Amino acid sequence: MKIAVVGTGYVGLVTGTCFAEVGIEVTCIDIDQKKIDNLNHGILPIYEPGLEEIVSRNVSAGRLSFSTNLAESIQEADVAFIAVGTPPGDDGSADLKYVLAVARAIGENLNDYCVVVTKSTVPVGTAAKVHREIEQALYLRGAEVEFDVASNPEFLKEGAAIDDFLKPDRIVIGVASERAQEVMSRLYKPFLLNGHPIIFMDIPSAEMTKYAANSMLATKISFMNDIANLCEIMGADVNMVRKGIGSDARIGTKFIYPGIGYGGSCFPKDVKALIKTAAENGYEMQVLKAVESVNEAQKSVLFNKVTEHFGGELQGKKFAVWGLSFKPKTDDMREAPSLVIIDKLLEQGATVAGYDPVAMPEARHTLGDRITYAKDPFEALIDADALLVVTEWPEFRSPNFGVVGRLMKDKVIFDGRNIYEPQQMQEAGFIYHCIGIRTEYKELAF
Ligand code: UDX
Repeated sequence: MKIAVVGTGYVGLVTGTCFAEVGIEVTCIDIDQKKIDNLNHGILPIYEPGLEEIVSRNVSAGRLSFSTNLAESIQEADVAFIAVGTPPGDDGSADLKYVLAVARAIGENLNDYCVVVTKSTVPVGTAAKVHREIEQALYLRGAEVEFDVASNPEFLKEGAAIDDFLKPDRIVIGVASERAQEVMSRLYKPFLLNGHPIIFMDIPSAEMTKYAANSMLATKISFMNDIANLCEIMGADVNMVRKGIGSDARIGTKFIYPGIGYGGSCFPKDVKALIKTAAENGYEMQVLKAVESVNEAQKSVLFNKVTEHFGGELQGKKFAVWGLSFKPKTDDMREAPSLVIIDKLLEQGATVAGYDPVAMPEARHTLGDRITYAKDPFEALIDADALLVVTEWPEFRSPNFGVVGRLMKDKVIFDGRNIYEPQQMQEAGFIYHCIGIRTEYKELAF
């Protein structure tokens, strides 16, 4: 079987590489010649643990290649994935111009049966538009070629994408013909060895599944952030509450960690897009609107604690910020809470020394010289009035607190990810603030 993957962004690259890894012949297509040249030299456009190694292994084995020649790859492909970007417009809706341009190009070049699969996260109804676009292009050529469209949303987590792809919890595929279902079953067979299911459904349901999954996860996080804020007010400990509710299998232990709001390229964009789709169709997503506003407010929670601690006087203070990416194991800074926090600190006349294990180049690109960049976590602490832990990278979990305390001007930590034990921090002489646990309790009236 041969496949073509159009778009060598995050999703396309991981998809193509993982299919090659199980022995399928894959061509990854992009219109950006420079990107393709780089990929042919082993230079990847993104950071993802393990990806570089498996790209080079599969290129060497001759199963994976990169090209700008869409026509040739489409003509040889049994399955063509569309994995190009769907940037959000100003109103939050996904812009489909790249997806539809690829569909047109496929229609202009198709000469044998092919399943054309939308892999990018696209609103319900997009596969139908892709179908129409291909049909029109075929008609204009006077060509009669059979094809099917299918929708196969991805559930890849940045930082764990290879594992998510090779050992998926489930594979969701929307199809409209038995032939397409048979082709897709064959394609995904190597990934089903761990007993997790492939779920076939109609196309709109598959498209909706992706938005519903991300929206549900975003809802869990915002719900827990709300609970965490209330725990602080009431003198409860959200870590205890989290354990208490998580052991109920209906709720589950995952994605109920409070923090400083969700970020990244998926949750914020997909929640917005679903609210927008609903509004366009006369329906109001009330829960999701609340999820969004809780998340916006949560990005300021750590800053508010800083302001409160310093009595509103941040002018001339220096803050060390550990972690700049929106979550660990990625260099992605999109919608990162660090950006909101840093902006607010700088606005108040403070200075910031940032450190991140992999996102420094990305951070320099986004923040320029508005902050200084430390060569390691400890350098950022020199003369700092406080440390803010913004991303829970493993290397921040147990630093030598003796050294931390000696380097800082004041021993104050604001932990946006609850990675330290409040009691241990107090014993080490730190003033410690975290999320959802009040570290200095007032007597509550009974
Ligand atoms: C997400 C989905 O998990 C994935 O299935 C989908 O395909 C794309 O979107 P990703 O954006 O890579 O993946 O990150 P994820 O690990 O899901 O984290 C998203 C955000 O939620 C991060 O900002 C993270 O810090 C936050 N989060 C996660 C919490 O605040 N609390 C939690 O308990 C879990």
